[in-house]
Amino acid sequence: MKTQPIKIILDTDPGGDDSFAFLWLQSLARQGLAEIVAITSVDGNVHAKHTFAGSCKLLQLGGFSQVEVGRGVIGGSASEDIEDAGYIHGADGMGNLSHTLPAAHQDYETARYSDDLLIDKLNAAPNEMIVVAIGPLTNLAAAEKKAPGILKLAKQIVIMGGAFLQPGNVTPEAEFNIAYDPEAADLVFRCCNHLVVMPLNVTRKLVFTPNLAEQISAVNPDHPIAKFITALCQFMVGTAMTFRETAGKPGFLVHDAATLAYLFYPETLMFQRAQVDIETKGEWTRGKTIMDRRNNAKPTANAWVALDVDAVNLLAIIAEDLKFLIR
Ligand code: BDR
Ligand code: CA
Repeated sequence: MKTQPIKIILDTDPGGDDSFAFLWLQSLARQGLAEIVAITSVDGNVHAKHTFAGSCKLLQLGGFSQVEVGRGVIGGSASEDIEDAGYIHGADGMGNLSHTLPAAHQDYETARYSDDLLIDKLNAAPNEMIVVAIGPLTNLAAAEKKAPGILKLAKQIVIMGGAFLQPGNVTPEAEFNIAYDPEAADLVFRCCNHLVVMPLNVTRKLVFTPNLAEQISAVNPDHPIAKFITALCQFMVGTAMTFRETAGKPGFLVHDAATLAYLFYPETLMFQRAQVDIETKGEWTRGKTIMDRRNNAKPTANAWVALDVDAVNLLAIIAEDLKFLIR
């Protein structure tokens, strides 16, 4: 039986790991499994101007340049107390490799804002779109503020963010996407109950190695995507090792790819239904995700939270799908 492609709006802040998820999504779209409805770029890993340009370039590279890219909303509490992550992802967010990619084909100055694009696409097809949010939740919160109830029109919202009963990655307690704009995250977690959350609990297990990059590029080493994957992997491994993110294993964490695993390879993940809240006030805990684990009734539970992943299997799946893109 032929299945309908899953309609996806990707909210992203490329980002080394965003770039891998983005390419993987384009592979899934080429295979007829996904439809990329829009990209809503967001201020996060690097400034909104760079995440917009990076998104355009990745679409050009993957052959989906017709997809509209929104420019990230600037504002809210974004970046008040957390610096961006250019020190991990490179000044352009893409391992300082963006100059090797095709030129951006859409103009930042005239692009629609990402919140307007989200509102437009969700209104046009209620309960059909999956919003995959792999950056700070600034755009989603802005859309909800402008058009209350709009996020409920998404079929589901799949988020990379948070950490439960384990350390954060930008503060002792908080994960980057939530900590960068805690007020936005708070708003999204308060107004939705159809959230799927991929926290550091699972993404810390997804160590993408240079060996996997080599396996992919061996299929067609001269292909521009193969060259980009190899060079980006090399850059990301460098910063991941410096910041001791992989327990000494040469590789880097493909956090954002976990969201697509949920949609296309759900057998690789284990979930718990939960009431998740965002700490916005704590002096030491701002941006922390809290899961109420007491045995009391939770009629307002708002999220499915992934707590375990079959990492070996999932990484092999990602590599195979990326090969598809360069054949
Ligand atoms: C998240 O933060 C960003 O730096 C990554 O792209 C990912 O979305 C991981 O904490
Ligand atoms: Ca990201």
